[in-house]
Amino acid sequence: MTTLRSVPEVFEAQAGFPTVRLRRLRRTETLRRMVRETALSPSDFIYPLFVTHGQNVRREIPSMPGQYQLSVDQLPREAEEVARLGIPAVILFGIPATKDPVGTENFDPNGIVQQAVRAIKAAVPELVIVTDVCMCEYTDHGHCGIVRQGSDGSFEIDNDATLDILGRVAVSHAEAGADIVAPSGMMDGMVAAIRQALDAAGFHQVAILSYAAKYASAFYGPFRDAAESPPQFGDRRSHQMDPANVREALREVALDVAEGADMVMVKPALAYLDVIRAVRQRFDVPVAAYNVSGEYAMVKAAARNGWIDERGVTLEILTGIKRAGADLILTYFAKEVAQWLQNSAF
Ligand code: PBG
Repeated sequence: MTTLRSVPEVFEAQAGFPTVRLRRLRRTETLRRMVRETALSPSDFIYPLFVTHGQNVRREIPSMPGQYQLSVDQLPREAEEVARLGIPAVILFGIPATKDPVGTENFDPNGIVQQAVRAIKAAVPELVIVTDVCMCEYTDHGHCGIVRQGSDGSFEIDNDATLDILGRVAVSHAEAGADIVAPSGMMDGMVAAIRQALDAAGFHQVAILSYAAKYASAFYGPFRDAAESPPQFGDRRSHQMDPANVREALREVALDVAEGADMVMVKPALAYLDVIRAVRQRFDVPVAAYNVSGEYAMVKAAARNGWIDERGVTLEILTGIKRAGADLILTYFAKEVAQWLQNSAF
């Protein structure tokens, strides 16, 4: 049996040692604020927006309470609110009018994202616009690339044929006024192909945020409702990463940085904090983390049931993602958190 000693007894037994009491610096909120190692700021956030055709559309996404499919006319107001809250950037996802095997609207100068970029730039020129560059929202089969189907029902995604289209999409987003393009399809060579296409068209100033380490995750479920982009057959495991791997994520990031990525992303965030940390330690480019739709939906659902404190849990999650090493966080919570941060200043 060991007998427990009180703190003063322990210190007495180690005479000559200073009495370390870590609680001294936790005594008041002001002291805690002084020694806080990680502070969230609205500048950390990138706010995702789903854009759809039509007029006056503000359609709430059932599995993502508080998030909407918006028509282009709604965007100026939304962009002004985001900027007023101190959030520096939005990322746009488009829901096209029609889908086909190659996703033609994706690189149409009058496509939904191209219209959205122009509307936001006209309303709030200083807001940074990131565009998601992928094919899954635009193709009728819902895959992230050109699909080659075998007669036996098997299929393959043609990596290199897809690269050509991704280059065209990036250039059309740049022509509309995008500041940053974010390829999310996990095709090999996508960053190099996009950099080449942008430079050839004279868009040297447009940056690339690569979804470098994007996992084949069940956490994307609500997004696929929001963007109407679930694969119509098969899954994405032939190009998105196996959730079990971290060394492979470092190879993905190394390749993308070598191909010219200005920033890299780890996605999802919450179940991949070790990946964020590993990427942060190894590379010096800005690291973004995507707090994805399923992570958002879980918090909202539990909070609606009264099972968790939404504000506490959200701040803890986002602080954890930043503490792990993320410089930027793509999050559906951005506006709410920016509001909380504004109101809690004292
Ligand atoms: C692909 C894309 C996806 C997400 C962002 N870009 C979906 C997917 O890969 O299936 C998911 C984002 C989220 O879940 O919040 N265009």
